[in-house]
Amino acid sequence: MNTILVGAQWGDEGKGKIIDVLTEEADIVVRSQGGNNAGHTVEIGKEKFVLHLIPSGILRAGKKCVIANGVVIDPVALVGEIEGLEKRGIKLANRLLISETAHLVLPYHRALDEQRELRKGSNKIGTTKRGIGPAYGDKAARTGLRVLDLVRPKTFSTKLKSRIEENNAILKTLGGAPLSFPEVERTYLEAGRKLAPYITNTVVWLHGQLEKQKRILFEGAQGTFLDIDFGTYPFVTSSNTTAGGSCTGTGVPPHRMDRVVGVMKAYTTRVGEGPLPTESAQVSAMLHAMGREFGATTGRARRCGWFDAVATRYARVVNGIDDLAITNLDGLDTLKEIQICVAYEYRGKRIAFPPNDAEEFLHCRPIYRKFAGWQKSTSAIRHFKKLPVAAQRYLKALAELTGARLRIVSVGAQREQTFQV
Ligand code: IMP
Repeated sequence: MNTILVGAQWGDEGKGKIIDVLTEEADIVVRSQGGNNAGHTVEIGKEKFVLHLIPSGILRAGKKCVIANGVVIDPVALVGEIEGLEKRGIKLANRLLISETAHLVLPYHRALDEQRELRKGSNKIGTTKRGIGPAYGDKAARTGLRVLDLVRPKTFSTKLKSRIEENNAILKTLGGAPLSFPEVERTYLEAGRKLAPYITNTVVWLHGQLEKQKRILFEGAQGTFLDIDFGTYPFVTSSNTTAGGSCTGTGVPPHRMDRVVGVMKAYTTRVGEGPLPTESAQVSAMLHAMGREFGATTGRARRCGWFDAVATRYARVVNGIDDLAITNLDGLDTLKEIQICVAYEYRGKRIAFPPNDAEEFLHCRPIYRKFAGWQKSTSAIRHFKKLPVAAQRYLKALAELTGARLRIVSVGAQREQTFQV
C-alpha cells in the first residue's frame, strides 16, 4: 500500500503527527516538495521534535526516509537538522537518502525573499523568509543549483560565483546587502561534504524498493490552499502541495499510488496573508489563550476560524482524498456551540467552490450551520464510540461535508492521542 498524505487546508493541519502514526504501516517515508518552510511537530512522551526537511518517519527506528527531487534544500539548515537529531540519539546513517537533483536554497534566495516581501508592503505574502519562492523561481528559470552540484566543488564554485554576481546586482537594486562569494562557497561546500554520504539517485532507489513491494508513505508539506496552482494565488507557497506533487516530486508514477489521506483540523487556521473566509476573533482568542496555534517554524500566531467545508470539499476533489484524518478535536472541547461553513455567499449568490480570484475570495462571506458543542475533555478518549455524542455528530458532519471517509481522529499532541475509526 502506497499512501499519499496531504494537508486539506492551509497547512499546519497536524500532518507530522499523522505521518508518525501512519509510518508504523510503512517501510519508507518520502518528502516530495517544499523546503524548510515546513515545520512538522511530533511529540513522543516528554520529547518534542520539530522537523523541517527530514521526513517525520525518521523518528521510528528502522524506517528509511527520502528527501526527493521536488524538495528545495537549504544544505546548512539540513546539516543542522541532521546533527540536532543525532545529538538526541536518532541514527540517520543508511536511513536517510537525499536526491541529487533536488534544488538548493542559497543565501541569496533568503535575501531576495526578504527584500521582495519588504517591497510589497501591505500586499506582502507573509512568507517564512526561508528563500523558498526564489529557489523554486530559479528552478523554473533554469538558473538553479542542485544537490549534485554541491558535491562537485569545482562546478559548484563556478556556478555559485556567477549566481552571486547576478543576485548581488539585484539585491543592490532592491536595497539589500550583497553576499560574499568566498564565505558562501566555504560554508556550503562544508555542508556538502557533510551531506555527501546521504546523496544518491533517489528515483532509481525508490523504483528498486517498489519492485521489492516496500510500502511508501509520501509526506506532503504545507496544505492544499498553499498550492502554487490550486491555492489562493498569490498567497501561496511555490510548490505543488497537492497529491500530484508526490509524483512529480519523486519520480513515482500515479498508478503506483494506492490511496490519498487528507489531514485537516477540526477547525481552520492559516499563517501569512490571504483569504480565510471563516476567520473568527472568538476562535483565535480561545485557541491562543490555550497556548495553541503558534507556528512551528516562525512562532507566528496563526489566524484561526471555524471549519470551512467549502475549502475541504475542494481539497477532496483536487487531491482525490479517500480517507480523512481529523486533528485537534480537543481544541473545541470547551465550546457550547460550534459552526461549520457549508457554502459561501459572494455578491448575494451562494457558491459551493472557492473562487480562483484572491480578491473575490477575500469578499466571500461564510454561510454557517450550527452544531451543539460537547463541553467535555476528549483528550483521554481512544475510541470513536466513547466520544461525546455531539463530538461524534460533529466529526461525521465534517467527513460528510468534505465527501471522504473518516479514518483517523486526533485529540492531542501525543502519539497515543490518536485512534482509527
Ligand atoms: P513560503 O513558503 O515561505 O514562501 O510562504 C508562502 C506562504 O505559505 C506563507 O503564507 C506562509 O506562511 C505559508 N507557509 C509556508 N510553509 C508553511 C507551513 O509549513 N505551514 C503553514 N503555512 C506555511
